[in-house]
Amino acid sequence: MIEQVTVDKVLETANSQIIEVVSDYVTLRRRGINYLGNCPFHNEKTPSFTVSPHKGIFKCFGCGEGGNALNFVMKHDQLSFVDAIKHLGNKFNIHIEEEEYSPEQLKQKNERESMMVTSEYAGQFFSKNLTETDEGKSVGLSYFRSRGFRDDIIEKFQLGYSPEQRDALTKEALKQSYKLEYLEKTGLTIVRDNYQADRFRGRVMFPIHSLAGKVIAFGGRILKNDKKTAKYLNSPESEIYHKSRVLYGIYHAKQEITRKDRCYLVEGYTDVLSFHQAGISNVVASSGTALTSDQIRLIARFTKNITIIYDGDPAGLKASLRGIDLVLAEGMNVKVLLLPDGEDPDTFAKERNEEQLIKYIEEHQQDFIKFKTSLLLADAQNDPIKKAQLIQDIVRSISIIPDTITRSVYVKECSTLLKVDERVLMQETGKLQKKKQEEDFRRSAPRPSNEPPPEIFNQPSSGPGTQQAPNVTVNPFELEEREILRFLVKFGERPVNPDEEDKVSVGQYILHELKQDDLMSNNPAYNKMMEAYDAAIGTSDATALKFFVNNSDPELSKLASDLIGKEHDLSKIHEKFGVVTHAEEKLPDLVPKIVMELKWKKVKTVLKEKRQQLQQMEASGNADGLMELMQELTTWQQVLAHISKELGGRTIV
Ligand code: CTP
Ligand code: MN
Repeated sequence: MIEQVTVDKVLETANSQIIEVVSDYVTLRRRGINYLGNCPFHNEKTPSFTVSPHKGIFKCFGCGEGGNALNFVMKHDQLSFVDAIKHLGNKFNIHIEEEEYSPEQLKQKNERESMMVTSEYAGQFFSKNLTETDEGKSVGLSYFRSRGFRDDIIEKFQLGYSPEQRDALTKEALKQSYKLEYLEKTGLTIVRDNYQADRFRGRVMFPIHSLAGKVIAFGGRILKNDKKTAKYLNSPESEIYHKSRVLYGIYHAKQEITRKDRCYLVEGYTDVLSFHQAGISNVVASSGTALTSDQIRLIARFTKNITIIYDGDPAGLKASLRGIDLVLAEGMNVKVLLLPDGEDPDTFAKERNEEQLIKYIEEHQQDFIKFKTSLLLADAQNDPIKKAQLIQDIVRSISIIPDTITRSVYVKECSTLLKVDERVLMQETGKLQKKKQEEDFRRSAPRPSNEPPPEIFNQPSSGPGTQQAPNVTVNPFELEEREILRFLVKFGERPVNPDEEDKVSVGQYILHELKQDDLMSNNPAYNKMMEAYDAAIGTSDATALKFFVNNSDPELSKLASDLIGKEHDLSKIHEKFGVVTHAEEKLPDLVPKIVMELKWKKVKTVLKEKRQQLQQMEASGNADGLMELMQELTTWQQVLAHISKELGGRTIV
């Protein structure tokens, strides 16, 4: 834990010198009050990456990436919050004192660190053995060479060789004062009474790196193709190695995954190596086991796009099908590439150069719908029962996708491919979704985002009518809410009533208005922003802009930079009011209006719902309910009329 004061100091310093920070990675040129360069987060030829020294933020108008100095370093170097603070502290000579650990924490931390150090040593031992000993060279190195791996790849991945001798590593490690305890805990040494032996013997070694590049485990491959022994032996689970959370190659791939905004997923160690050797480094391997959600989330930190590349054999097919649904469930986009029969990614990549490989992938990867359809359709042919099963199967996959819009795109595609009415598919996915929601609901207490839309304004009580299923992913008030937040960030501390004696700040006004009418957002990040400012009002002299941009919560600082970074992008609301510049002078006018604007839209939404209810009731002939509902409708209409008047006579439709 780093102390908050230190975090604040680092943030303030780094953001005020953001040009310094970014210039370590990007060549910037001055352009007016801003600086311009080529974006490091996507490929571009004409620069659209802008840094504002004045605001302490960066923004790419090409790919949309943006944030403060800390966000930049976190994103660029793929660092955790703490590591990024350390990095920046180091750069600006700010001493970072970490808070003390409890004895228990310290013990655990020491244990993990000792295991890491031991693993790192073993990695060096194996790689030295590969290149510097006769046995290593004649057996291990010649094996890698016979498979066509170049020396630079062998070095990059720290490949190694474990000698045949029973305790070569253990003996040497003990001699170098590494402790038996950690050799055992990392699984490198097998300890019995009076007997110690190396786990890995006579194998070529693939060290497995953590996201941060530390050696945490090994895979060791036998050299002969012997059907009786397992091809690979792997390190056991340990305090530092949780197989289900690690992907082979992630450390060497992460930067390129971000840059290419896509990750290739293959099966094995050698597949990863061959891709790198061919010049493609945004690739990771699931290491032969079933993909886990944790592994997918690891990829999701860098991109939303995955291409699963598997052998075309039945085992590979099965593995890719299983993988698809998991990836979809994490809200990621998934494509599948099946290689021609008899090829695996390793052999396939070896036969091609980078350009050919990329071309092949781009031409042959299929989105999951096409992939599943063509795969299963071949099987179903003219059998109507099989076809029905196939449709069910695909519909199930679609219903897993969390995002409504993406789901509807796939429904459309599926409808075309399978020649099934779109509405039928929609109904089916809807049913499955509802079932899933009910299951989720039963399993856990309802989360805030699953609650029905808030009844705003307290006066008209909500009728007994049916509540519409909440839409979790689409926020219909996005535009209005962002506009309000933008004012909060830019002008939070300014008075909204400069001419009056009891001054109310823009921030206070906004928060009061939203809370009073229960108008908080259904976007947790937006709410967090408002709550954070609410809690901070009166506790600091910093302007709202400084408070947000220098906020130690990266989510808040990023969101804030995002909101103010797009200022040339005039919002529709602004245009409506004919206000383009000098917002500062018009705060007393503008702030109440943008809040009103949100209220107007929310009331319109409620009215629409009520009208739908009314139609349903008319159809069902419920006379009592009908009267009650009509009264409610009238009240809501009055509320809307009132707001419209405030907004300057808007026509009600
Ligand atoms: N694997 C394993 N244990 C085995 C077999 C496979 O852990 N007995 C894992 C390894 O991570 C391996 C991956 O599954 O990399 C894929 O298996 P396979 O395709 O058989 O191995 P390759 O890595 O392709 O090795 P090679 O090219 O040498 O056959
Ligand atoms: Mn393989």
